Amino acid sequence: MAPEERKAGRSAGRARAAGTVGTVVGDLEISRAWLVDPYAGREGPGDIVVERGVITAVTWLTGAAAKGIGPDGVVVAPGFIDLHAHLREPGFEDAETVATGLAAAAHGGFTRVCAMPNTSPATDDAGVVGRVRSAAAASGSPVALDVIGAVTVGRAGERLAALGEMADAGVVGFSDDGAPVKSPVLMAHALRYAGMLGRPIVEHAEESALTAGAEAHEGLVAAVLGLRGWPAAAEESAVARDLALLAQVVRDVPGARLHLTHLSTAAALDLVRHAKAAALPVTCDVTPHHLALTDEWVAGARRWAWEAVDADGAARDPWTDGALVAGPYDPACRVNPPLRDPVDAAAVRAALRDGTADAVVTDHAPHTVVDKEVEFGLAANGISGIETALGVLLAAVDAGELTLPGAIVSLTAGPARLLGLWAGRPAPAGLVEGAPADLVVFDRGERWTVTREALRSRGKNTPLAGRDLPGRVLLTVAAGRVAFTDLE
Ligand code: DOR
Repeated sequence: MAPEERKAGRSAGRARAAGTVGTVVGDLEISRAWLVDPYAGREGPGDIVVERGVITAVTWLTGAAAKGIGPDGVVVAPGFIDLHAHLREPGFEDAETVATGLAAAAHGGFTRVCAMPNTSPATDDAGVVGRVRSAAAASGSPVALDVIGAVTVGRAGERLAALGEMADAGVVGFSDDGAPVKSPVLMAHALRYAGMLGRPIVEHAEESALTAGAEAHEGLVAAVLGLRGWPAAAEESAVARDLALLAQVVRDVPGARLHLTHLSTAAALDLVRHAKAAALPVTCDVTPHHLALTDEWVAGARRWAWEAVDADGAARDPWTDGALVAGPYDPACRVNPPLRDPVDAAAVRAALRDGTADAVVTDHAPHTVVDKEVEFGLAANGISGIETALGVLLAAVDAGELTLPGAIVSLTAGPARLLGLWAGRPAPAGLVEGAPADLVVFDRGERWTVTREALRSRGKNTPLAGRDLPGRVLLTVAAGRVAFTDLE
């Protein structure tokens, strides 16, 4: 596309005001935008009209009418789905509440979010599941909330939680996330019981014997900074164990399913690639931070992961490159699994491209200043990431690392397919006439700065603070209602 056409495309999208947050979209028209509908496998220039919360017209433009409209301007896509977010309620409301978490989700373009169970009390019985749901209803947010229940009582890894009761209460899966299911015996039982209930075990794959006291990815950066190494083998050995257990369990319980969350290493993704080729019922996801950020950020680099490899794909040395632009030991960079090296990050992007990774999840992990702004090794793990996920993926698209439809699929049809497998939930209709409006409108040509004030989440802990990201979200509509709006 010629530069002047691109410019025209950028300014082409027009959207009329949609209403205020929480209200049904009365009358909305977005014209001359770039529509991306992964559910129909289609993208292109078009107009879309929403009336009383329902999509009443989708017009795909061709010929002269389409001239000047490109994917660099206003984009309309189905609402994003996050399979992995920490909303912290009950118990850690100073870090996030269900209400602030859903507001942050809407600001990020998400219309459905799965809440992780590492709350206090842990979401390990139907009563707590009910509390989380009530908080979502009370928030008034139209963003849909799904609950993932704990695998073990109190996430303590000793006894299976009331999986059947929680399945009846509608949880979409089980996870002890934040920690793995340590005992292989319990893991096998969990896969068996959850499988009989038609639910997956969503596993945080980490061999804790190898990560006790670990601070940063084991490699050059950790060695130079004097941080205790967090070996890639801790993830790989856990994935290998879980796949072996799955292969054994699935013989008796064909419905058993394993979903490996936030995979971060090349070898772990390779194991999944092979297991999928062998038709094991395994799926996995990756995060924006593991595909775009690397361990050199802990040393003070701030370049994207794809800028940290040379032409042969080998990691560059941030010290000899002069890539260190910030101070070292920023606790905002501390996360579990840790930011890996640039070769692992490239493998994460390759896994998304070849379908080994089924979805991108945010692992949104808001923390208080008290828990986070302390010495690196003592800081709580996690990145507040639900509002920056789109921008990070678009940066990867801008760099030619992902395609725009590929990035959108990983936030929509990818996770929707998994929810279909896990909870029998039909995929959203997408951008079709007659469907309830569930969509995000963002301007790819506009950048926004990640600041404390810009983030709706209570958790301001992000290594992207101060950075400009592409793709400002203008409007998020969930189930026909305004979830976020920045339209005048
Ligand atoms: O960095 C992380 N933070 N990884 C996890 O697995 C848990 C999460 C949290 O809850 O803060």
